Amino acid sequence: MDITHASTAHWSLDQIGYERIDVERVRPRDELFLLVCSASFIESGSDTYTRNLIDYFAGDAEFGHWLQDRWEPEELQHGRALRTYLQHVWPDFDWDAAYAGFFAEYAQLCVVEELEPTRSQELVARCIVETGTTTYYQALAALADEPVLHALASRIRADEVGHYKQFYHQFLKYREREGLGRAQVIAAIWRRVAELRRSDSDIALRHAAGALGGRAEALRDQLYATLAQRYPVDLAVRMALKPLRLRAGLQRCAERPLGAVMRRLMH
Ligand SMILES: [Fe+2]
Ligand SMILES: [Fe+2]
Repeated sequence: MDITHASTAHWSLDQIGYERIDVERVRPRDELFLLVCSASFIESGSDTYTRNLIDYFAGDAEFGHWLQDRWEPEELQHGRALRTYLQHVWPDFDWDAAYAGFFAEYAQLCVVEELEPTRSQELVARCIVETGTTTYYQALAALADEPVLHALASRIRADEVGHYKQFYHQFLKYREREGLGRAQVIAAIWRRVAELRRSDSDIALRHAAGALGGRAEALRDQLYATLAQRYPVDLAVRMALKPLRLRAGLQRCAERPLGAVMRRLMH
């Protein structure tokens, strides 16, 4: 599994083709506004989190460089690319003001105490986060019938898969070093999944929905329903369980009931 990215040239904003956006097709779709906007907030705030992570892994030069030179710039670029898309389609939206509101709340979550007790467990948590972003952008790409947005979401999704692979690679290294047991892996997965409810995505969505005024509440419910239709549940379960390193047969046994539970929760 190639995690170095050395062979893949990264994309840039001028390859997106913003001038080709079919604006009339996207503008009426509030759910796409909410999905793109909340993602732009979280991505744009990622340098706050990177700083904590780099400090947490002090002394690991190889990984530290990757976080600083690869991961952080890519996440920030996701933020810029999505923000530019928003500004093309919804030019009246005051992104800076809405982002300031989001960030005031979000920054309080990004403190060192929120990190896992050990490095290997923090890497499990990072795998869960990248599972979340990979599947989110896959759902967004599926929902976006406007070609420029579809292509952008697909590009970002590919980057998130790359992030997952690097965190997973580092997890294998630290798991060995720290002698991490399966129960501790489960605990880290569980904590991170439980965390998702009160964390970044919810704050981001609330601040994005604020821009739509009084309809925000109803829109949020509608959005979850729409997202659930296109959410790749099986992929999410597979990626989230991978750090458990179960035998193939056992992993398949665990995937089916978990997938069923997730589907029931989402509908
Ligand atoms: Fe990202
Ligand atoms: Fe990522």
